Amino acid sequence: MGRIAYVNGLFVPHREASVHVEDRGYQLADGVYEVWAVFGGKLADAEGHFTRLERSLGELRIPMPMSRAALTLVLRETIRRNRIKDGLVYLQVSRGVAPRDHAFPTHPVRPAIVITAKPVDMAAAEAKAAKGIGVITTPETRWARCDIKTIALLPNVLAKQAARETGAGEAWFVDELGLVTEGASSNAWIVDQQGVLRTRDLNANILRGVTRKSLMELIARDGLPVSERPFSVEEARQAREAFITGAGALVTPVVAIDGVLIGDGKPGPVAKRLRASYLSEAAGQAA
Ligand code: PDD
Repeated sequence: MGRIAYVNGLFVPHREASVHVEDRGYQLADGVYEVWAVFGGKLADAEGHFTRLERSLGELRIPMPMSRAALTLVLRETIRRNRIKDGLVYLQVSRGVAPRDHAFPTHPVRPAIVITAKPVDMAAAEAKAAKGIGVITTPETRWARCDIKTIALLPNVLAKQAARETGAGEAWFVDELGLVTEGASSNAWIVDQQGVLRTRDLNANILRGVTRKSLMELIARDGLPVSERPFSVEEARQAREAFITGAGALVTPVVAIDGVLIGDGKPGPVAKRLRASYLSEAAGQAA
């Protein structure tokens, strides 16, 4: 059985799934998205992603295309039809279809919705995490509303491609003060020389990561020292450990920054432990 996508109310074969040429998401990036990790066929951090979806849509004044409960059913059905055990489910909502005009359509249009799902090879993901990834740094070139999970991702696309071309797994954006904001598709963390977990605060221009939030709860439960205080690239290079969090990365150790090894160049004990506890917690709570 092939892949199935959900497009505007219908489940369709993935290869035939398409949107209208005047979908405002396609033409103007006028839309938002969410990505859930899937464990055992269930949604990880389900509510956190719904809450952020509603907020992102609200900021763009796009109505929720359907209730949270209905959306949950459609996401689950997409997972089921694609026979996903462990993987990712992607949801995109655009303002809808209308003749091209930068301003909102004058007549109400129905938001357009697309859902796709794909499996993740967890053994391969574990092997990657066990090795750790390198990151590159790149100037922060994004707009001032990175708290909205918009589908307008061009700076992230270019940053990720630059990372890939140097064999790195992620790119960290660095603001004009030399402080790391976040990754192209993940939040950035270090364990500093004092052993304190550090990640950028939520007043900064970053995405409020759902994985970041769940990990904060685990960190608090474990009583680990944590501070939402920005760190510089230099501090990251000198750190004991570094890692990234996100629905795709989960918790992935970072072992080099711009080719300079962090510590002994191996995943650190804190990052490894947090990955294991996040995985078991998120899988246990998946709904
Ligand atoms: N990206 N920062 C950015 C810029 C992101 O795009 C993401 C997620 C995160 C982590 O957020 P969360 O923990 O809620 O997944 C941080 C998704 C996975 C993506 O674009 O595919």
